[in-house]
Amino acid sequence: MSQSKLQPPRGTRDFYPDEYRQREWLFDHFRSVAHQFAFEEVDAPTVEHAELFTRKAGEEIVDQLYHFELHDRHLALRPEMTPSIARMVIARAGALRMPLRWFTVTQNWRYERMTRGRKREHYQWNMDIWGEPSVSAEAELIAAIFALLDAVGLERGDVKLRINSRALLEESLREGVLRDRPEAFAPLCVAIDKLDKIGADAVTRQLIDTDGAVHLDEAAARFVVAMLELKDLGEAARLAPAGSQALADLERLFQLLDAYGVADQVVFDASVVRGLAYYTGIVFEAFDTGGELRALCGGGRYDQLAETLGGKPVPAVGFGFGDVVIGELLKDKKKLPLLMRPVDDMVFAFGEGERPAAIRVARRLREAGRRVELTLSGGKLKRALADADRVGAARIWLLGPDEIERGVARVKDLASGRESDEKLEDAGS
Ligand code: HAM
Repeated sequence: MSQSKLQPPRGTRDFYPDEYRQREWLFDHFRSVAHQFAFEEVDAPTVEHAELFTRKAGEEIVDQLYHFELHDRHLALRPEMTPSIARMVIARAGALRMPLRWFTVTQNWRYERMTRGRKREHYQWNMDIWGEPSVSAEAELIAAIFALLDAVGLERGDVKLRINSRALLEESLREGVLRDRPEAFAPLCVAIDKLDKIGADAVTRQLIDTDGAVHLDEAAARFVVAMLELKDLGEAARLAPAGSQALADLERLFQLLDAYGVADQVVFDASVVRGLAYYTGIVFEAFDTGGELRALCGGGRYDQLAETLGGKPVPAVGFGFGDVVIGELLKDKKKLPLLMRPVDDMVFAFGEGERPAAIRVARRLREAGRRVELTLSGGKLKRALADADRVGAARIWLLGPDEIERGVARVKDLASGRESDEKLEDAGS
């Protein structure tokens, strides 16, 4: 096998124990916050029918699909969780008690151009609420994002969440540049989502491209791009039609976020539209305030996805929060913990004659719920003591012929250095 084949494929990761512990530490926080909000965990296959993901709005995610033909089936590794969740909801729509509060922690695959914070596989924590049309659902989800940021030790002010509404944008364009062309709205959003990446001129060119799905005239395209500059809800409100529901929803959301105590961390930003075609209402993305990294998480309302996939309409809103960007931010802020192998007790037999007694001690301790490393062959006591120290074990149990004869083990408390004899049958009690 060539040297390069010993590396994982570009953009994918091996998780050695240190990295795996950090990953689990983060996932434990994902799960614990989701449980605080009384969400239930679900899962779905990593491989789905490719058709579940192949939408035709020009989204990057579709071009980045890992897909293959097998026994006449066209299958794909999931690039995101939302279509699978939608499929699960549609399949049992009548039997599920709405609103549903579901969360997942899953690995997703996208053949991306790699930059800092973007890989070709990543894990994503998703929280989604199905069956709730009001923005109280958005507010609850955004509060959960901040609960996670608090839980991992970030400071308030390290992250800002930018909020916009596709519905507000759509209302503002419906009677003007998109009159009689509602189908152009989703590809328009996909195009303007690239503003940060490719700049205003390139986005304008895409909007006026006569072969594209949007093809606005140049003045209309410039009007749309100018709208994205708005950073003040009051200004955006002036472009909205009278009695706008989308505007009322946005205003209500900001009020609710105040009650959740996160008003200082959220801002209106008309340039946030998201790159996925299915969003229909409020959309949001969180960024580090230092402006160094890509989005930590993103989400929004997607009330028509169930219908698009052939189900009955069900309102839905959710977010995806990746493991890569938060990892980078925690590293930058020196908040990523260095976690040790969890060992409470080491048990060391001086020779093979003492091994059965050592095994019994280890068994008792394990049955009592302690995490026990039993040394597997004689070896040197010095090395065992150093190992016990390194992993932060509380005690080491030493079993030599003298101790066995007296029915005891010599137990060293590694914090204090104190040694005592413990009866073998008392281990774990
Ligand atoms: P997304 O914005 O494509 O949304 O991804 C959500 C988050 O996943 C991103 O903000 C980022 O943290 C992480 N992520 C995405 N792609 C990569 C990558 N290539 N490398 C590392 N991290 C990545 C969605 O996927 C939607 N399905 C979220 C959603 C759930 N909307 C409603 N419910």
